[in-house]
Order: sequence, then structure tokens, then C-alpha cells
Amino acid sequence: MSRPAKRITITGAAGQICYSLLFRVARGDVYGPDQPVILQLLDLPQAQAAVRGVVMELDDCAFPLLAGVMITDDPETAFRDADAAMLVGSRARSKGMERRDLLAANAEIFKVQGRALNAAARRDARVVVVGNPANTNAAILAQHAPDFPAENITSMIRLDHNRAASQLAAKAGVGVEAIERLAVWGNHSPTMFADWRFATAGGRSLPELIGDETWYRETLIPTVAKRGTAVLEARGASSAASAANAAIDHLHDWIHGTDGRWVSMGVPSDGSYGIPKGLVCGVPVTCAGGRYERIAGLTFDGFAQSMFDRTVGELAEEMAAVAAL
Ligand code: NAI
Repeated sequence: MSRPAKRITITGAAGQICYSLLFRVARGDVYGPDQPVILQLLDLPQAQAAVRGVVMELDDCAFPLLAGVMITDDPETAFRDADAAMLVGSRARSKGMERRDLLAANAEIFKVQGRALNAAARRDARVVVVGNPANTNAAILAQHAPDFPAENITSMIRLDHNRAASQLAAKAGVGVEAIERLAVWGNHSPTMFADWRFATAGGRSLPELIGDETWYRETLIPTVAKRGTAVLEARGASSAASAANAAIDHLHDWIHGTDGRWVSMGVPSDGSYGIPKGLVCGVPVTCAGGRYERIAGLTFDGFAQSMFDRTVGELAEEMAAVAAL
């Protein structure tokens, strides 16, 4: 283990997503089998005992790549010299809580964490926000980290992308690895738009292969949109292992590249596709050389345009609601 270790800040460390995520990151699933990692774990003061319990279990796994673990309830300490950050912790909606109060509570969390990121992380750190509302939380983080490159602050829509890829592969009767050029646009919420129009399987157009536009509109899109609720109802708890897996896919692909394959990431808008600047919006990208690049020049038909406008409109509304607070 001669390479210097990569420092990864992970928030919400006592939560259920992290109970899967931490073990996979420590095993090398983000940076690969030759790269030691140090975990810098942030959670609230009242969750510190639970984090210590998870760290005991990390110790008990004897992961060869795990070069150190730090636990803290101080955001700036957590972000110190970070090479990457996975922001999972956020305020969940409690019973009777208004949407406005939820947005306000999370805006406050991501404001504090944005300042800490700005003060303490490496300038080339890659950040993925998982905690909901993930896109808006990422936009607030960027607003409060003015000296940190905004393009390195992203949000996770990869779980929706993976959900759609899996459903499409099953319907087409192909392996999921055959699915290419799938796009998921917009907000990580039930309005997200899983767009199959450009998708292929083994080089063949997926819409032609499946040949069932009604299934696409009336089954695929709602299935992906409501998948989180379906898992919650069946399991009695929200998606955790699949969310951790998607966060790892997101960061892994950003760092290692996608070989020309499209993946979906929430990225700060550069104004393309008419997405207002200041929003962090799910778009299709490819990754190479440690950078993501938006797929440019895609066109929209009437149905796609209406789906796209709805989800981007929701993001704009969330940001306006936060601004009004
Ligand atoms: P959880 O409730 O089990 O854990 C959340 C953890 O965050 C708790 O340990 C809590 O103490 C901590 N936390 C709260 N405020 C914090 C703060 N200010 N700083 C540091 N830690 C803080 O939740 P779970 O299941 O792990 O989910 C975490 C988040 O991920 C939720 O917001 C959930 O909605 C979101 N999520 C996002 C997905 C996506 O696709 N973007 C998919 C699935 C979940």
C-alpha cells in the first residue's frame, strides 16, 4: 500500500444507506483495488455512538484498503483535505412536517456543509449529494461554496437510471449491460423523466426492439417513478443498498470513466437544453479523464418535451421556495 490514501467524507454515517455504503467504499468499490482510502464520517452529535458501532464492524472486516477512519460531528473537520464527498445525511420528513419546513431544514444543513466544503476540502474534490431533496440540496451547497468549483458538485439520479435500465433490459430480454444511451432527466423525484428514445441494446434501437410505446409511457415511466415507494411498502424501510450502490456507481464512473457509455448525473446547469442556471439537474453524460461531459444536441418531441418541462419546472419551483424562505 504505497500510494497515499484518498480521503472520502461521508455524511449520515449512522443511517441505513451508509450501513451498506461504508463497507463497499472501504472494500475499494469507488477507487479500485489498489487505492487505500480514509473514511471521514460525519453525523449529528446524538448519532456518534451509533457511528462508533458501525466503525467497530468496519474494523472487524479487516479491509486491507482501509487506511483510517475518522468520526466527527463537526462539518469542517469532516471535509478536511477531502478528495471526494458523499453527502447522504439529510433531514427526513417527520410526521405532520410541511414541505416548506423540510426544505428549510435541509437548506440550513447544506448551507453549513457548503461553507465547510469551501473552507476545508481539496479544490479537485468530487462531491455527490444523495440526501433528499438531492438536486436542490446540491444547488444550495454550491451557493455556499463560492471558492469551490461548482462543476464538481453533483447530485445523484443514478438510482433512477439503474432502475430504468433494469426494467428495460427485462422487457427486451437482454442483459442489463447491453443497454446503452439511456437518459434520465430532471429531479430525483417522481417527476424524473426516464427517456428511452435514444436507447439501444446490442446496437439496436430499444424502442423498436420492445415496440410498445404504451408500455413505455404507462408502465415503465410510472414504475421507475414509484419504485422508491414500492420498496418502502414491501420492505418497511426505504431503498438503502440500491441507493448506496448507485452512489458508488456515480462516483466510480466519474473517476474512472464510462468508455463512451451514457450515464445520468445531476449536474449544475450550464444553460444547455434551456435548463436555468443555478439548478442542479439530471442529464445524460459520459465520463472520461476524471470529468463528466453532457451529451449535447438531443432533441425533444412533444411528449418528451412535456415530461422534461415538468421535471425542470419542479426543480425551479423548489429553488424558488428555498429562496423565499
Ligand atoms: P437515515 O434516516 O437512515 O439516515 C440519515 C442519517 O443522516 C442519520 O444518521 C442522521 O443522523 C444523519 N444526519 C441528519 N442530519 C445530518 C447532518 N446535518 N449532518 C450529518 N448527518 C446528518 O436515512 P437513509 O435511508 O440513510 O437516507 C439518507 C438520505 O438519502 C435521505 O434523505 C433519503 O431520502 C435519501 N435518498 C436519496 C436517494 C437518491 O436517489 N438521491 C435514494 C434513496 C435515499
